[in-house]
Amino acid sequence: MILIIDFGSQTTHLIGRRLTDLGVEVKIVDPDEALVQIKILKPAGIILSGGPLSVYADKAPIVDPKIFALNIPVLGICYGWQLTAKLLKGKVEYHAQEYGPTTLKIQEFTDLFYGLPDKFAVYESHGDSVVKLPKDFEILASTGSVEFAAVKHKEKKIFGVQFHPEMEHTEFGSQILQNFATRVCSLALKPKELEIDKMIAEIKEKVGSHQVIGAFSGGTDSAVAGTIVARAIGKQFIPIYVDSGLMREETLSRIKNDFPKILGIKVKVIEARQRFLKALKGVTDPEQKRKTIGKLYIDIFEEEMQKHKDVKFLLQGTTYADFIHSQGSKRSAHIKSHHNVGGLPKNMKLKLLEPLRYFYTDQVRQIGLKLGLPKSVVFQQPFPGPGHAVRILGEVTAQRLAKQVQADMIVVQELKKAGWYEKAFQCWSIMTGTKSTAVKGDGRAYAEVVAVRAVTTKDRMSAEWLQIPYEILARISTRIVNEVPDISRVVYDITSKPPATMEWE
Ligand code: XMP
Repeated sequence: MILIIDFGSQTTHLIGRRLTDLGVEVKIVDPDEALVQIKILKPAGIILSGGPLSVYADKAPIVDPKIFALNIPVLGICYGWQLTAKLLKGKVEYHAQEYGPTTLKIQEFTDLFYGLPDKFAVYESHGDSVVKLPKDFEILASTGSVEFAAVKHKEKKIFGVQFHPEMEHTEFGSQILQNFATRVCSLALKPKELEIDKMIAEIKEKVGSHQVIGAFSGGTDSAVAGTIVARAIGKQFIPIYVDSGLMREETLSRIKNDFPKILGIKVKVIEARQRFLKALKGVTDPEQKRKTIGKLYIDIFEEEMQKHKDVKFLLQGTTYADFIHSQGSKRSAHIKSHHNVGGLPKNMKLKLLEPLRYFYTDQVRQIGLKLGLPKSVVFQQPFPGPGHAVRILGEVTAQRLAKQVQADMIVVQELKKAGWYEKAFQCWSIMTGTKSTAVKGDGRAYAEVVAVRAVTTKDRMSAEWLQIPYEILARISTRIVNEVPDISRVVYDITSKPPATMEWE
């Protein structure tokens, strides 16, 4: 197995995910526990993850340098490599910040880059860089701006890479990790199957004779989670859709018409549009917004629970990306509280049931297909739990919500018409809260700017903006300024993640 030491990167778990997919057993541990865990687990290799801090920061996490003398292969990634360099007496300095793709040129193909082309795109996300190699290290690959982009100790199996092989936008990233596992650590790969029957059996046992109330949004995650639970406990499962008015309008009709067939159970709809608008009155802070929405959802569920005699669990379709973004690990930076994780009140009476908590989107889709769900459900675009509310910057009023619903619908319709909807992982509009000047019917208008965003991603931890043809963007823009009241202009968001998160709030 390979031990991953977590310095708090947003993508530490992806390192684990990539290796697990390849069939390598992994364990992620905190740097403080590293030496003890190495003694217990006797790993064949160690990976030092990235992290949000500079190695010179006050509270920068470190690892005991003894790990370099154990004769176990080590691969440092980003912060992990910078820390390796610092501990082995190289030099790290603040460089220019670099976020995004760059080209890696390979000089040495023996270990990490075995079988790979001599040039390919890698993803970087860092401020510091190693400027002087520790003694006895040599260069394996460089990028235009980072000379020591991949390095190796001349005799020991200690490697460092400044880019992130675990991120999907690094070409051959999995291959690099596979080379580390097989060629450097001499591990054999044993890929695992997704064990759905086991998941179903575990839920059956955990729930026993109690009832489960299900937060059912109609999205892929909740549909997959709901189907697993429905298969496990049948009518003991009570799926509930809270109609907050913050979702796409088509959601409600699918909930009423399609899902009873899929689940074998009717979904109960609770109308709560006015309650949500009232709760959101005056709320402008994004975190506060998510928490307000999360709390109201839970309040409504708890009210509903009173009506059923034996509800003990609340089912949520939380996936690993939601969890990492909201809480992450002990060392990671807090990015945002996805409402179905960080927004939950502490004194909630229901116990959470989250069968997808350790899966990424693409795995959830595989599970959905294995369960026999229709492709239209499995591959639909995800919609964030707080819905349009986090796409309306500033206060959510009935009027702004109506504009957002209309603009968003235009984005979806036009992409569908042009055959581009399937190419987007998600596409939507944003009420930016910024006003700009326009000339409408010979008069001056000073009205809101709408942004349009469309992204591609596999696991939501990184994303690229979608290169939609100009003609489609032009149609979207024309329709929005003509059909949606009080809009002065339309802009297209051309920022990748990182650094920009997918949602604006
Ligand atoms: P970000 O904006 O964090 O989005 O890059 C990553 C993915 O998560 C979705 N998202 C949310 N989903 N509750 C959710 O259930 C939330 O509060 C939330 N915020 C973002 C987002 O749509 C994207 O797919």
